[in-house]
Amino acid sequence: MYNEPMLKDNALKGKTYVVTGGGSGLGKAMSTYFLQLGANVVISSRNFEKLQNTANELETLTGGKVLPVQCDVRHYEEVENMLAKALETFGKVDGLLNNAAGNFISPTERLSANAFDTVIDIVLKGSKNCTLAFGKHWIAEKQERATVLNIVTTYAWTGSAYVVPSATAKAGVLAMTRSLAVEWAKYGIRTNAIAPGPFPTKGAWDRLLPGDLQEKFDFKKKIPLRRVGEHQELANLAAYLMSDFSSYINGEVVTIDGGEWLQGAGEMNMLEAVPKEMWDMLEAMIRSKKRS
Ligand code: HXC
Ligand code: NAP
Repeated sequence: MYNEPMLKDNALKGKTYVVTGGGSGLGKAMSTYFLQLGANVVISSRNFEKLQNTANELETLTGGKVLPVQCDVRHYEEVENMLAKALETFGKVDGLLNNAAGNFISPTERLSANAFDTVIDIVLKGSKNCTLAFGKHWIAEKQERATVLNIVTTYAWTGSAYVVPSATAKAGVLAMTRSLAVEWAKYGIRTNAIAPGPFPTKGAWDRLLPGDLQEKFDFKKKIPLRRVGEHQELANLAAYLMSDFSSYINGEVVTIDGGEWLQGAGEMNMLEAVPKEMWDMLEAMIRSKKRS
């Protein structure tokens, strides 16, 4: 029901996109859809064997062309190498999807300085490294148009306990998104972000809901639509934002979370728990106090 591809066939034909963290989880799902729409895709991460397996799987599934490149986004020279390999194979790059991330739950006071740095380095420094290297290239080449899409989370603006390094880093990525949307628009570079709510993946669930936390804290209960996201729903949005169909969208962060963060934020949202039958009584009580 929620797995219908959105864009028309060949909507991304001739495009080449680089997806960091494209070998697994949401990065793999978005890469799959880009390929189905006719794009070439470069997938990168630290684990080359995983990337190669994913590349083979996706080429067979979609008939598209996938280049796996080992790249730890924390290291600028590895990012430059990834860009060089993408250009060598495909001649140009039309878009960068900053999707790679590191995260785990922990009380902040239990974190070593290195643990905090590790998450900041993957998420914030990694997104900065990729954006800077690709942006410099596009500007130097005077490429007519290019796009950067950053995957953040809704706690980039609400903050969140127990994932403080991730929240801190994602907030930085969001600020970078909005800043560069203005500064680099003159070079034809659009910069946008997506803030997903819960979309089950092994990478996220192993680190955010280990053991029996999955049963204890059911994400679905926190979401007005009472379900988690389907990967295709996110892929549809990402394909649109990477494509030229969204040419006038710049500096936007699109939330795709079934209403989750607003449910947590609205002052009186706890009244969801009031049963329908009680509303007559409550209304009568309120009306009776009208003149007091
Ligand atoms: C406390 C921890 C820890 C833990 C690691 N560390 N795990 N500290 N609690 N659970 C500490 C280590 O002891 C070390 O510090 C430092 O962190 C670095 O750990 P390494 O294992 O050496 O790092 P590395 O191999 O680079 O692995 C990075 C990682 C790992 C972030 C720790 O989890 C990873 O590879 N993650 C990639 C994928 C991922 O996280 N996906 C989920 C994204 S989900 P010391 O001081 O001992 O040296 C997401 C969803 C958000 O972002 C929103 C959902 C709704
Ligand atoms: P995931 O499968 O664990 O994806 C993270 C990816 O990042 C992995 O492919 C990992 O590959 C790569 N990576 C980690 N460190 C890296 C590094 N230093 N250099 C290069 N690549 C690195 O988890 P996911 O759920 O799909 O998450 C994808 C994105 O969605 C992340 O930005 C995450 O914050 C965001 N997000 C997810 C959810 C959700 O519910 N799943 C919600 C909100 C936001 P290697 O281990 O091979 O390097």
